[in-house]
Amino acid sequence: MPLTISILKETTNHERRVAASAETVKKLTAMGCSLTIEAGAGEHANFTDDCYKTAGAKIVNGTDHAANADIILKVQITSADIKAAKKGAHLIGLVNPYQNDALIKEAALKGAYLYAMEMVPRISRAQSMDVLSSQSNLAGYKSVLDGAEHFASAFPMMMTAAGTVPPAKVFVMGAGVAGLQAIATAKRLGAVVSATDVRPAAKEQVQSLGATFIAVEDDEFKEAETSGGYAKEMSEAYKKKQAQLVEDTIAKQDIVITTALIPGRPAPKLVTEAMVKSMKAGSVIVDMAVDMGGNCDLSEGGKAIKKHGVSIVAHYNIPSRLASDASALYAKNLFNFLNLIIDKDKKELIIDWEDEIVKGVALTKDGTIIHPNFITKKEDVKKSPAKKAVKKTAVKKSPAQKTAVKTTTKKSVKEA
Ligand code: NAI
Repeated sequence: MPLTISILKETTNHERRVAASAETVKKLTAMGCSLTIEAGAGEHANFTDDCYKTAGAKIVNGTDHAANADIILKVQITSADIKAAKKGAHLIGLVNPYQNDALIKEAALKGAYLYAMEMVPRISRAQSMDVLSSQSNLAGYKSVLDGAEHFASAFPMMMTAAGTVPPAKVFVMGAGVAGLQAIATAKRLGAVVSATDVRPAAKEQVQSLGATFIAVEDDEFKEAETSGGYAKEMSEAYKKKQAQLVEDTIAKQDIVITTALIPGRPAPKLVTEAMVKSMKAGSVIVDMAVDMGGNCDLSEGGKAIKKHGVSIVAHYNIPSRLASDASALYAKNLFNFLNLIIDKDKKELIIDWEDEIVKGVALTKDGTIIHPNFITKKEDVKKSPAKKAVKKTAVKKSPAQKTAVKTTTKKSVKEA
């Protein structure tokens, strides 16, 4: 029997992407997999049923086909997907795991294998599977276009017979994957660009793109990167110093693009109402972090509003606004992950549970939550073989030690 893979239509609000492209369907078919795709699944990404059919997939109406699938591919995995799956199915997609305890539990109870692609570790071997990078890169580009759309002036300096148009000043807050692409895009459009971040490694990257780096570079800043390459939550004292610097900088900008995120936490609030008031009329803020609560106090999720003369643009799910490219890259990321877990000769799933990438993304297995970052409740701890030793101490001894179990897991969330 060939491995069966189902691709379902996305049902989450603001989601226009799809988890397969004609290219990945062709490659998976060539690997001996049998693919079924829900009719219309690629519509918003301009991937027609016909192009999937030509690539080798079977087009079917509804989601019943998911009940026979060994693997279900989605952009955003929902409770309905888990219900539609058979016991033992492998569901691969975005899970938003830090906000989605119930979904992880549901997958475990169902006896399904759940993989959160946003948890791919940031190691060289996993770069081709890194959905956060592929999607953030596109989102960073789009955020500049969104800013330009609401900006009533030009980006490049123009010297004309009628006078000189000054270049736009763009300030990018958070110089990760999205921020660096925003810097590069704004530079290409001719803006004068500056950027900030709390990670010291960002300084050189910002400067290498020709932008100015602005940050509070104290001792805490030097320690602000986790071993995984992510930002840490900063102290109140740092945040105060940073706020002062941001306030001074923001007042001089035309466009501010905020991208600051901390994994597993709400987005840090970096732009206050007072800062918005300090900006010139006609300035624009693009808040890319709104899916995680936003970096600007005044952002309204899913809307472009005007407050104190400043446009504040806060679209949800920005990669989805470039659905064709975002889907093509996302589908390729999934294919590269499948390539890791499908044995090409035996044409079956052979999963190395000790592989660093698998350990990073796999949340549930055999009715159990297996990812240490998500074993937060006592009953989950009981179930996990990896936590048996901790469980014994916690249950047999004092309530204080029970708390210690919780603290350990919370700490690992912070450090992820
Ligand atoms: P992210 O989306 O988690 O956060 C965006 C940016 O916001 C980060 O640069 C973060 O440092 C910054 N930030 C957080 N709090 C802030 C604050 N209070 N003020 C200003 N900035 C703040 O980050 P992303 O884009 O996922 O990148 C995280 C790291 O992973 C980066 O170092 C990136 O270069 C690295 N990376 C490594 C890859 C690899 O395969 N080796 C692939 C992709 C990214």
